[in-house]
Amino acid sequence: MSPLSLSAEQLTKRFDHFTAVEGVSFSVQRGEIYGLLGPNGAGKTTTIRMLLGLLRPTAGQGTVLGYDIVRQPEEIRRRVGYVSQKFSLYPDLTVAENFNFYAGVYGVARRSISARRGDTLALVGLADQEPVRAASLPGGARQRLALACALAHQPDFLFLDEPTAGVDPISRRALWDLLYALAASGTSILVTTHYMDEAENCYRLAFIYQGRIVAEGTARDMKEQQMQGQVVELDCEPLDRALTILRQAHLFDEAALYGSTIHAIGPDAQAALVQLPGLLADQGVTLHSAEVIAPSLEDVFITRLRHVDQSVHSPA
Ligand SMILES: Nc1ncnc2c1ncn2[C@@H]1O[C@H](COP(=O)(O)OP(=O)(O)OP(=O)(O)O)[C@@H](O)[C@H]1O
Ligand SMILES: [Mg+2]
Repeated sequence: MSPLSLSAEQLTKRFDHFTAVEGVSFSVQRGEIYGLLGPNGAGKTTTIRMLLGLLRPTAGQGTVLGYDIVRQPEEIRRRVGYVSQKFSLYPDLTVAENFNFYAGVYGVARRSISARRGDTLALVGLADQEPVRAASLPGGARQRLALACALAHQPDFLFLDEPTAGVDPISRRALWDLLYALAASGTSILVTTHYMDEAENCYRLAFIYQGRIVAEGTARDMKEQQMQGQVVELDCEPLDRALTILRQAHLFDEAALYGSTIHAIGPDAQAALVQLPGLLADQGVTLHSAEVIAPSLEDVFITRLRHVDQSVHSPA
C-alpha cells in the first residue's frame, strides 16, 4: 500500500454552540486524489482549514505528510499547495507577475523562480500567456494559473477548495487532466466539490453533510455497497403529475426528477413495478418504460441523506 499522506481522526470544530465539523475521519494515500463532496455549509472548508493548521480543532487529531496539524502547522504549510475557495489572483498583474509573487510567498529561492515559472506554466498550458494580465484570462485559464501558483514550490500535497466552481465543462476537464498527471507523479490531492459528476473523478471520496461524513469509499463501492434500496427509472409523461402521484402513493421512499426521467427509490422495486402501470394509467399518465437501473452517486446520496435526516429528527 502507498504511504499515508494525510490522516484525520475524529476532527471536530465547534464555533460557540454551533458544530461545523463533527467526528470527521479519513485518510489519503500518496498519489491519491481524495474528494470531499457536500452541499453549501457542509463543513468542507472548515475541515481543510483544520488540516492546514489554519484553524485549531476543538477535538480530534490529524497529520499531513507525517506532521501534526496542531503542533507542526509551519512544516505542513511549507510542503503543501493550497488553492483556497476565495483564492484570488492580482487582476492587474500579469500571469508571470502573479506566479512570481506566489512563488515568493511559498519561499521559492529568487534564483529558482524563473525556471520554476517556465516549467509550471508549461505544465498548466499557460507558457505563452506570461505577459497577459490575469484580469484578461478566461475563467478556466485563471483557475489553471491559480493551480500553477500553488505548485510553485513543488508541494507533495495539494489542497483544492472548489477549484472548478463557475468553470465551463471543457476547462473543468482540462483541470482534471492536470490533477491526474500530478497524482501520477506522486502528488497527493484533496479536492472539494459540489458536483456529483466531478466526485466520480476522485479515486475515493467522502460525502459530508451537516459536518459529518455520511458515506465514504470509491464511487463504485458506494453504488454497490452503500445504496439503500433499488432505483427505478421511469420514462413517462406528464412528469410533474407522475411525480405527485408517486409521492402520494408511497410505493417508493423517494421520487425525484432526473433529467427527463424520474428516479424512484424503494426497498422492493419489483413489487412496486407490478402496481405502477395501473396506478399511473388511472390518473392519466402515459408510462413509456420503467426499469430497475444501477444507482448513480446522486441516488446513493439522496438515500443516505434521508437516512441521516430521519435519525436526527426521530426521537431516540
Ligand atoms: N468562523 C466561523 N464562525 C462561525 N461559523 C462558521 C465559521 N466558519 C464556518 N462557519 C459555519 O460552519 C459551517 C460549515 O462551513 P464551511 O465553510 O466549512 O462549509 P463548506 O462545506 O465549505 O460550504 P461551501 O460549499 O458553501 O463552501 C457553515 O454553517 C458556516 O456558516
Ligand atoms: Mg467551502
